[in-house]
Amino acid sequence: MNISFKKTALLVAAVVLFSFQNTFAQEATTISISKPDQEVEVSPNIYGQFIEYLRNSITGGIFQEDSPLSDENGFRTDVLQKMKALNTPVLRYPGGTVTKIYHWEDGIGPRNERPARRNLIWGGVEDNHFGTDEYIKYCREIGAEPYIVVNMGTGSAEEAANWVEYCNGTGDTYYANLRRKYGTEEPYNVKFWSLGNEEAAREDAGRLSDPEKYAEESWYFAKLMKLTDPSIKLFVVADPFKFDWNDPVLASLSPIVDYISLHWYVGNSPDDPLAIYKNITRFDESLTELGDYLQQFPVEVENFSQWYRFPPRQGAIKISVDEWGIWDNTCEGQYNLDCEYTWKSALATASFLNVFHRQAENVTMANWAQSANILGAILANDEGSVEQTVYYPLQYFRKYAGSSLMKVDVENMPLVAADQTVETLDISATFNNENDEVCVFVVNRSDEEQAVKLDFANSTKATATLVEMTAPNENSRNAIGEESVVSINEKPVKKNGAIKLAPLSINIVVVR
Ligand code: AHR
Repeated sequence: MNISFKKTALLVAAVVLFSFQNTFAQEATTISISKPDQEVEVSPNIYGQFIEYLRNSITGGIFQEDSPLSDENGFRTDVLQKMKALNTPVLRYPGGTVTKIYHWEDGIGPRNERPARRNLIWGGVEDNHFGTDEYIKYCREIGAEPYIVVNMGTGSAEEAANWVEYCNGTGDTYYANLRRKYGTEEPYNVKFWSLGNEEAAREDAGRLSDPEKYAEESWYFAKLMKLTDPSIKLFVVADPFKFDWNDPVLASLSPIVDYISLHWYVGNSPDDPLAIYKNITRFDESLTELGDYLQQFPVEVENFSQWYRFPPRQGAIKISVDEWGIWDNTCEGQYNLDCEYTWKSALATASFLNVFHRQAENVTMANWAQSANILGAILANDEGSVEQTVYYPLQYFRKYAGSSLMKVDVENMPLVAADQTVETLDISATFNNENDEVCVFVVNRSDEEQAVKLDFANSTKATATLVEMTAPNENSRNAIGEESVVSINEKPVKKNGAIKLAPLSINIVVVR
């Protein structure tokens, strides 16, 4: 156990108590925050982002060569500044479904010599002016680790291994030299590589929807990629609910894969205003189940043949929620991918992030899908750009989330009045080893104010601050060129004093 963690646990006197007065039931809701028996790290990588060759997600989103708003790289500076402010630790690329037809060699070399190709998946033409080198440069600009998904549809294992060499090769070899020729001497050291994307989906351009076939092909891809760079971490396609896929895939690939990759989008239902929260809870439960399921694969892989010529997986298999977000038929455009997110979407986003905190033991990476325009946290057009409502929880949770998980015990949790099944308050808590800070993240999903009594009885902490995010109503949304509908206020909170959680609010109580 980390020494600073122990010390702080003593300082906090083991328990920080919050008594939440529930205005509905007139019964005090008590939330106890305590040190867990074992330290659980909260990975910063749960704050990842994702870009794809999908209409204006990349070109027209983060990248636009002919725009006066862009820099010499073609990066939209207004969008770049918003991406930087998210402080995202990981940027997944180049898809998504498009990976099944994407050939990375189309996107290197002099831009005007790169082939334009039809985007057979999402439509339109991809000019390939944003390719691997631009992507890595973008990652460096925003301070994110690159994470690449290889083409297991029309691509080959050799092509994937060559991509690994182009990015990570250090020797005097063809693809490493090609990277040098195109301007970068030092290897990119891309650590994260995914073996395809949603390969179980029968409808799209994949050819591996039979799990046995996917497992066999993945082994072959993995071998060539690992022989090229044995240090890379591999992600394998899984499903939160389909164990007839997960079982054969992991039975075969568990010795070499580091992460299982899940995708989960939630949406509103016209029949049930609370459906979005119920869907997040369902996913939360599936993560617990999957975490238990992964226990069957020993942390140390035994009897791994030396003839593979690379080492087996090091450490336990973890979950990466490679794509998550909000996608429903209130969004517009082709496949309902153009979403103007409401404040309710932001409340759901905050609840999702609380899930990733609570599931820290199982989930060590998660990537919001997507960064710009398409399901985007940021909207951009030729005139400008704007942070959508969902951007703010992504930004503020990332800013305040600590490095380890705190235990949360709730007594008398109020239920949303309209339904009586959905919990009014959605809560997680973290501790930050670096600055000795406890943060409690509370989403008030009801349209009633919640009176909250904070009780720091056993704490030596001196101050608490409430960071409160609100919007005029559930349907409020941001638009390019207009003032943001989101208000963010920081208020000191008195020790042992009462605080009020605004209706439909996202709150971070920072205890120092
Ligand atoms: O993010 C949009 C699409 O959603 C991705 O291409 C695919 O992986 C998922 O189904």
